[in-house]
Amino acid sequence: MADQVSRRQPLLGSSAPLVTPVYQSSVYTLPDLDALDRIMNGEEPGYIYARDAHPNARRLAELLAEAEGAKWGIVTGSGMAAITALVVATVQQGQRLVASHRLYGRTTQLFVQELGRFGVATELVDVNDPSATEKALRKGARLLFVETLSNPLLRVVDIPRLAELAHQYECRLVVDNTFATPVLTRPLELGADLVMESLTKMIAGHSDVTLGAVCGNDEDLLAAITTAVSIWGLSSNPFDCWLAERGLATLDLRMAAACDNAARLAEWLSAQRGVVRVVYPGRLDHPDHRLAPEILRGGFGNMLCFELEGGREAVNRFMHRSPGIPFSPSLGHCTTTLSHPATTSHRYVSPAERRRQGITDGLVRLSVGPEEFETIRDAVKRGLSG
Ligand SMILES: Cc1ncc(COP(=O)(O)O)c(C=O)c1O
Repeated sequence: MADQVSRRQPLLGSSAPLVTPVYQSSVYTLPDLDALDRIMNGEEPGYIYARDAHPNARRLAELLAEAEGAKWGIVTGSGMAAITALVVATVQQGQRLVASHRLYGRTTQLFVQELGRFGVATELVDVNDPSATEKALRKGARLLFVETLSNPLLRVVDIPRLAELAHQYECRLVVDNTFATPVLTRPLELGADLVMESLTKMIAGHSDVTLGAVCGNDEDLLAAITTAVSIWGLSSNPFDCWLAERGLATLDLRMAAACDNAARLAEWLSAQRGVVRVVYPGRLDHPDHRLAPEILRGGFGNMLCFELEGGREAVNRFMHRSPGIPFSPSLGHCTTTLSHPATTSHRYVSPAERRRQGITDGLVRLSVGPEEFETIRDAVKRGLSG
């Protein structure tokens, strides 16, 4: 047929798409065995099987490495896949991890329950207490794992200090930068050895993608983590990578607007009746108020918490009155959403531990979006009314 295009004919001539196309193919074709060898030996770029590598993941990884100030990036099928990959690539049976006692719940479960089954022990410490952290590192550890901003109370970690401590004990510092994003801080430039992100959140930015990434500078780790991603089946799919690349293009703009909104909202909330506490690192009453500007540039983040007088019932009333702020237990959407740590992220934490951390039944977490400030304020006002 006249319009039939041979497989070997160039489809695009001298034109090229402005936007990375979606390479929705699980496998690639090669002209001969020599071409296969050249790709396998790294002598020329190319792809063979998408679980090992595909163009959308590679392009996204390059852009993320640039954003993090890293030599390399690896994209994974979720944030949890990124943590799994970096741990299995760097830790052997019988070795130890030291981790923050304020991590995302699933990360703590991965370290304590899952890695425990494989003979890897994890000690959880208050990483905002340098002497407790040093005491744990002194016993030996392969990785020190922390989050830039903790969930939900937004404690900030002193990345340069922790990097120095970790390196003193021949341990690598890994930073989960999901709540901050590379817009607010680049942990590798502050001394961390690896940075990971859940791209599911602010970076992809539209709540339609589940992906993760690890970035670093050490070439040996690049090879080891890439192998772990393929063998453990932790890789990403092309369409999600394509969506995340599109999200990443507006990350700076979205974060700037969202951080500005969060700072204004924190101030406004602190003067409202029925609000007994506001948690935001930009406020003078936050425990890391002095440290925060040393670690975060250009804003204190888009996450904030406030506590309603009246506990769980008051939170339910707020939700019913403010449908404009959906109850949606994630973060980083392109509009403001709300979560309730006591019944979602910290549901399985004992009531005593929740009390110790200050996670009360009246505590509401907001992921503030980049929409007009007045839109958010009016929606919150409706929630607080009555
Ligand atoms: C701080 C943090 N790290 C990691 C993860 C895991 O990411 P994902 O859901 O993409 O696996 C989450 C998810 O909520 C998170 O909040």
